[in-house]
Amino acid sequence: MAGLERISMTIEKDLIEKFDEMRTRNNLPNRSEAFRDLIRQRLVEEEWEQNSIESVATVTLVYDHHKKEISDKLVTEAHHHHGMVMASMHIHLDAHNCLEVIALKGMPEELREFGEHLIGIKGVLHGKFVMGPPFSK
Ligand code: NI
Repeated sequence: MAGLERISMTIEKDLIEKFDEMRTRNNLPNRSEAFRDLIRQRLVEEEWEQNSIESVATVTLVYDHHKKEISDKLVTEAHHHHGMVMASMHIHLDAHNCLEVIALKGMPEELREFGEHLIGIKGVLHGKFVMGPPFSK
């Protein structure tokens, strides 16, 4: 197998079972190809993050809007960083919980810093920062 390297690895049984279930759901019959996809995806994200050029990112937040001042805090943060916030989408999930997806643009370092700051706001139940590709004007 020219250009290929065979590796072996050790992984927890329940983790590989979940991975295989995920492959089945996503119609990925080949375990090696599924691993390669994950590695490529991580490498691309890493490359985007190390670029020193204006890029995009998203922050996904789930929070209970009854929790003290969290909605106000998010609005204030968005205004303070209006140059970075391109758009946000708010969905009322149920009587308590809100889902907010915020699209950002800026330098990769400041995107991560702001994203992690938002996720760290007290009352955020779930938060995820996703680095995106360079931003073309
Ligand atoms: Ni809401």
